[in-house]
Amino acid sequence: MSAIESVLVENRVFPPPAAAVQGARISGMEAYNALCDEAGKDFNGFWARLARENVVWNKPFTRTLDESNAPFYKWFDDGELNASANCLDKHIGTPTENKTAIIFEADDGAVTSITYKELLARVGQFANALKAQGIQKGDRVIIYMPMTVEGVIAMQACARIGATHSVVFGGFSAKALNERIIDAGAVAVITANFQMRGGKELPLKAIVDDGIAMGGCTTLRSVLVFMRTPTACAMVAGRDKTFDEALQGQSSDCAPVPVGAEHPLFILYTSGSTGKPKGVQHATGGYLLWAKLTMDWTFDIKPADVFWCTADIGWITGHTYVAYGPLAAGATQLIFEGVPTWPHAGRFWQMIEKHQVTVFYTAPTAIRSLIKAAETDEKVHPKNWNLSSLRILGSVGEPINPEAWMWYHRNVGGERCPIVDTFWQTETGGHVITPLPGATPLVPGSCTLPLPGIMAAIVDETGKDIPNGSGGMLVIKRPWPSMIRTIWGDPERFKKSYFPEEMGGTIYLAGDGAVRSEDRGYFRITGRIDDVLNVSGHRLGTMEIESALVSKTDLVAEAAVVGRPDDLTGEAVCAFVVLKRSRPTGEEAKQIANELRNWVAKEIGPIAKPKDIRFGDNLPKTRSGKIMRRLLRSIAKGEAITQDTSTLENPAILEQLAEKL
Ligand code: PRX
Repeated sequence: MSAIESVLVENRVFPPPAAAVQGARISGMEAYNALCDEAGKDFNGFWARLARENVVWNKPFTRTLDESNAPFYKWFDDGELNASANCLDKHIGTPTENKTAIIFEADDGAVTSITYKELLARVGQFANALKAQGIQKGDRVIIYMPMTVEGVIAMQACARIGATHSVVFGGFSAKALNERIIDAGAVAVITANFQMRGGKELPLKAIVDDGIAMGGCTTLRSVLVFMRTPTACAMVAGRDKTFDEALQGQSSDCAPVPVGAEHPLFILYTSGSTGKPKGVQHATGGYLLWAKLTMDWTFDIKPADVFWCTADIGWITGHTYVAYGPLAAGATQLIFEGVPTWPHAGRFWQMIEKHQVTVFYTAPTAIRSLIKAAETDEKVHPKNWNLSSLRILGSVGEPINPEAWMWYHRNVGGERCPIVDTFWQTETGGHVITPLPGATPLVPGSCTLPLPGIMAAIVDETGKDIPNGSGGMLVIKRPWPSMIRTIWGDPERFKKSYFPEEMGGTIYLAGDGAVRSEDRGYFRITGRIDDVLNVSGHRLGTMEIESALVSKTDLVAEAAVVGRPDDLTGEAVCAFVVLKRSRPTGEEAKQIANELRNWVAKEIGPIAKPKDIRFGDNLPKTRSGKIMRRLLRSIAKGEAITQDTSTLENPAILEQLAEKL
């Protein structure tokens, strides 16, 4: 049975436990349905009410949704606010001001913590340091930082002065960084000398230097360097400053700059179906509303909770559920610098016990790797730790297979914690389809139902609804406040990528396939329908990897990249390569494959390294020269070829390509 078939016949149902229903913000399905009805009856009124109740406005908005230039929707656009003030200043003078905002556990296990009041002072001082560098409202700032409190401070400080941040994940290469600095027109890069991962010191600043040295960064004026470790790094006089130097003499008082609700809070690059990553642009007001509201709805966050989202700030999950949401909700959160398997694969469970975590949010890939570890070594099984503090578990980033769901439910959640399988994307800003812990009966492997106000549906190519039980394309029929506003610098691509003309040009196309169950109408995501792969919850474009491979012009003539299912990483990258020289075999093939893997790591980052590389004299193409990717997908999976191959010029290459190194 295929993975999709097996989830289709899933019939286990887990109603929310009484303890989770009682006192929940959305308690029971009647409460959920009431909110959906409210949104259905008065869409604008619904959002206006929530925006007034959940966001502190410097200037109240009078317009809720402006659709006059669809799909360039505007939300609350005559209102003014500051995102950082909504995360920090609003707690001052309330009991939250002396509450712990962040507990930080470093790679080596060292723990520090900071209260809301202290965090505000640190953000204020850093914001003043940014101003002293000449950074102003509207400027773009690249953040290339490890998971540290300083990373969150950098993001909040940008928001405080109205600068638009663009965080680049610390695993991306110098080249990727260079492209992002140029595309965003960034005036500054905030980085660290090194990052610590699994006891190792890995360079960041040196990669920034390499990225800038590649040229074209004409807008860039300064680089600020957090000294994460005592090891020195090269500094360019006049351009680079350590945090200590930049912060020296700066006051911790910095008035937040009110910005219009549509002001770009951040740009976050993500992969699409072409070789060039898209700069997903988010607005301030709608995004902040959703970050706060989904903390309340999806995680039912309470004053005594200790929230832990394991995502890196380099991804959207780390934006919404580390840097903004928990602070806007006034929660205590745990931030972790290291890796889940070091010094041992029980680290997550140990940390949950140590910090008395109540809400834990992680990715299926992490769960699957920890299952494997626990199955091979009893000592790292979660049963060795007391996880009774937990009350809600979350999953994000990729489909969670029912087996992993059951293990998570039993061994981590002690069969008492609801699991919220949250479906969303960089573009959606926050959760869009997810169970509610105090309301939704859970079905393993299903993200269940849309949040109130999210008009999700499954349609065919023309935008027509597809009946429950049949697969189709996932769309969201009405705009929502935290949606992508545009692709930075490329509004045409925004329209083309997300709002297909055939569907009328105003409906958001998610890029995922989905099916709703016949009994409950629950959504299941069946995977991307475009050329985007999901490897360990990381989004990668096949074209990006292809471009990287063919840019090795001395060696590679042609390359095609597809995904194949992988038990641990969800999907794995499989590359089919034609070299400019004769097709290599044996040891030589292995050696060239390694060379190409390292090349891709250098061009994009280690996360994009192909797991499988196969060499052929050619690629399977139709007469018109189009690469038959479907065929390649079958070969990558190791399936027998059932497709029609009569149009292939040289069927013998299929055998070559099927050969594993
Ligand atoms: O394919 C879906 C998958 O991740 C994609 C979005 O990736 P990204 O923008 O990097 O954001 C990841 C974190 C929100 C989606 O198009 N995806 C995300 N969450 C789920 C999921 N697939 C199935 N179930 C989920 N819960």
